[in-house]
Amino acid sequence: MKLRLGIVGCGDIATFTTLFAKLNRGIDVAACCDISAERAAKFARRFRIPQQYTAYENMLAQADLDAVYLAVPHHLHHPMLLQAIASDKPTFVEKPVTRTWAEGIEVARLSAENKVKIAVNYQYRYDKGCYALARAVQGGNLGAIESVHINVPWSRQAGYFENAGWHTHIATAGGGTLITQGSHFLDIALWALGEQPLNAIGSTLKRRFPDVEVEDTAHGEIETESGAVIVIDSTMAADKERGVTIEVVGERGSARYSNRPFPHVRFRGVRVRKARPPQRGIHALQRSIEGFRAWVVDDEPYLTPAHEALPVLAAVEAVYKSAKTGQPAIIRTENNHA
Ligand SMILES: NC(=O)c1ccc[n+]([C@@H]2O[C@H](COP(=O)([O-])OP(=O)(O)OC[C@H]3O[C@@H](n4cnc5c(N)ncnc54)[C@H](O)[C@@H]3O)[C@@H](O)[C@H]2O)c1
Repeated sequence: MKLRLGIVGCGDIATFTTLFAKLNRGIDVAACCDISAERAAKFARRFRIPQQYTAYENMLAQADLDAVYLAVPHHLHHPMLLQAIASDKPTFVEKPVTRTWAEGIEVARLSAENKVKIAVNYQYRYDKGCYALARAVQGGNLGAIESVHINVPWSRQAGYFENAGWHTHIATAGGGTLITQGSHFLDIALWALGEQPLNAIGSTLKRRFPDVEVEDTAHGEIETESGAVIVIDSTMAADKERGVTIEVVGERGSARYSNRPFPHVRFRGVRVRKARPPQRGIHALQRSIEGFRAWVVDDEPYLTPAHEALPVLAAVEAVYKSAKTGQPAIIRTENNHA
């Protein structure tokens, strides 16, 4: 069976995901939707998509779809996911699952209660280096983990905010570089550890974009259940874009991930057979969309179902809270609504 997919939000990331969806023989991109009729029409022409909509409700009601892909601003994830669940449509939603942790909890609960699959596109879980790193940590190859250091030195120019105004506001984006960019790699660290984050301290800066509401630079230190510490530095204001690194120190060995010149991980002090991501493809995003298809059609588990995307959101919110108050923040989890 071909998965008939409807794309919602014909913007930046949807272009890349749709390229990979079109290459996938198991996916039929059947409809697209954008609040801008011009964008929807251009997108439909470019990818030869037969049906186009400007209202999500109409697409859900009228198009013959098996699933939807939400690539819209963060504040729309929650209402659109609730509508998808009510319409019984499995959904591939862009990260973060929702703008806030409280909204995410509701989505995860409704997804489970109604048995509607919600996959969150933290596609670095399908990145070869990140996957091998996470599986090695999960398999105990490095022993007990002491620390994880994440560095995300990215560079965005004014056009990033000018072309997509929703990025500038907390109400629409939830935050800046930490929730949008750093959260990919914070998710990898938490997934690798398989632990809930407990508390965090953090700080944020506006180095390049002082007039924008959200931060362009963030620092966080997050303690997890076993006492491991995750340190993250995320910026979109680096002088020039450099590679992302994740360094993990364990009692038996260490690991260093980098995405430059291509995604890879190196281990020190231990011999590790590198695990390979479950899906085929040349790019993590390609494997992630195929992972979603395989989950919906063949019931093969997807790496980030909605409830798995909650710890990173809780950690991000705690870093923001600490940055605002100047105090350590206790992290909210499903068992601990601090
Ligand atoms: N996985 C990744 O690597 C990655 C990369 C970039 C962005 N993202 C995520 O993708 C999502 C979208 O980001 P983007 O950079 O593509 O944003 P964008 O602004 O380029 O695109 C968003 C699109 O949504 C449309 N839209 C807004 N309101 C709508 C509505 N009510 N109905 C239908 N369409 C609507 C806009 O017109 C726009 O075309 C965000 O969650 C973002 O964090 C993920």
